[in-house]
Amino acid sequence: MQSKGKLLIVEDEKIALKSLIHVMTKEGYDVAGTQSGATALGWIENQSFDVVLTDLRMEKVDGMQVLKKCRERSPDTEVIMITGYASPESAVEAMKRGAFYYIVKPFRLDDVRKVVDEALKKIRLKRENSQLREQIEGYEGKVKIITQDTAMLKLLEMARQVAPTDCKVLITGDSGTGKELFARYLHYNSDRAESPFLAVNCGAFGEELLSNEMFGHEKGAFTGALTLKKGLIESAQGGTLFLDEITEMSPAMQVKLLRVIQEHEVLRLGGTAPVKTDARYIAATNRDIAVFTKDGSFRQDLFFRLNVVNFHIPPLCERKGDVALLSYYFLNKFAMLMKKEITNISSEAISLLENHDFPGNVRELENIIERGVAINTGHSIEVAHLPEKLRESGTHLFRKKEGRIPSLEVQEEAYIRWVLNEADGNQTVAAQMLGISRVSLWRKLKSYEIDDA
Ligand SMILES: Nc1ncnc2c1ncn2[C@@H]1O[C@H](COP(=O)(O)OP(=O)(O)OP(=O)(O)O)[C@@H](O)[C@H]1O
Ligand SMILES: [Mg+2]
Repeated sequence: MQSKGKLLIVEDEKIALKSLIHVMTKEGYDVAGTQSGATALGWIENQSFDVVLTDLRMEKVDGMQVLKKCRERSPDTEVIMITGYASPESAVEAMKRGAFYYIVKPFRLDDVRKVVDEALKKIRLKRENSQLREQIEGYEGKVKIITQDTAMLKLLEMARQVAPTDCKVLITGDSGTGKELFARYLHYNSDRAESPFLAVNCGAFGEELLSNEMFGHEKGAFTGALTLKKGLIESAQGGTLFLDEITEMSPAMQVKLLRVIQEHEVLRLGGTAPVKTDARYIAATNRDIAVFTKDGSFRQDLFFRLNVVNFHIPPLCERKGDVALLSYYFLNKFAMLMKKEITNISSEAISLLENHDFPGNVRELENIIERGVAINTGHSIEVAHLPEKLRESGTHLFRKKEGRIPSLEVQEEAYIRWVLNEADGNQTVAAQMLGISRVSLWRKLKSYEIDDA
């Protein structure tokens, strides 16, 4: 029988552990069990589990630490916490930190079975969804950068020139502007396209983990290193390694990376013989890296190594012309993913979007459209499907309607309605905000036939 999934059980009471292992194995899971939290941490480091069922209160290494490790090492693993009946707060805390669910002791084995099944169902859905996404993205030719902006088109032209070379590239730009997408574009337009594109977030791990992630280790290099693990630098052989948030790298890691880049070889932790490497490096940051090189927290020699070619991606607010184009692109994408027939965005909705500043850049726009599609029951994204903060911005007071400048009267009416709404319908407050008397407001309400009059 094929295993239903890989399950790790961490429970310090021997009898409870035994019965859980027994039941879940009979259920068809591939089960590993241990009484020690520390052992569990080692396993999680080196293997991947679908579900981890852990006791909260254990000596030395407790359930929270197991949860934390899972979040760091394998974000797709679902963690279920077993808590004592007397500690509901810690159950809540565990959920806040990303546990899938909690089971209160004493529990019925049947409940455990149900919760684990639910967790697996969630994992399956997530996987299906990401496969679907990949299919759609693959169908579009791996990476598509949507733009009509002159500056962006120049960058793309330059990217096509640089892509087939092994030039190191530094991509800068605000959060959500598309740095990682750009890096993928370089990769898929190079001869390395058939080899892996691997990304590492230099800010997401502590120094030790990052080092383990990038350089790998030999079997037995430290307790818990049960098998040999190749690092990302090695695994990106023939492909591209994307070093995200490069300024977050510690000084010691910077030295190690510089050495690898210069010598084209890497030493696994605990290893004695260096391994040849052939990865192309693309680094990115949303910070002003010049500040870091000036104050010495980022090595200048490494900066020069990585910054052979620099692409600076402009924020979305500097390319307003892309907003409508991207909106329709994301609309198609999410309508397809969510199997909805939404094909239009109203011109009012587009003007609201075009008037927004997008501090979160393209990612923010993408999220807004995803939400707009998700909550939609019709065939078009309307103003009502946009987040409140856009609708309330008020900047929509100056926008063309069907390409024409509206008359002062039309503007005045819209303005009064908006202020009245801001004042929660209170006419005295609205009159104050408008700087006119209550009587004048009343007259205007009447002439525009605004209901509240
Ligand atoms: N020009 C574009 N065309 C299509 N999709 C885009 C474009 N720019 C960005 N995106 C999409 O917007 C999202 C954010 O892009 P990405 O992750 O590359 O940004 P980033 O600059 O790396 O952000 P951060 O600094 O926060 O890591 C992604 O889903 C990406 O596919
Ligand atoms: Mg990024």
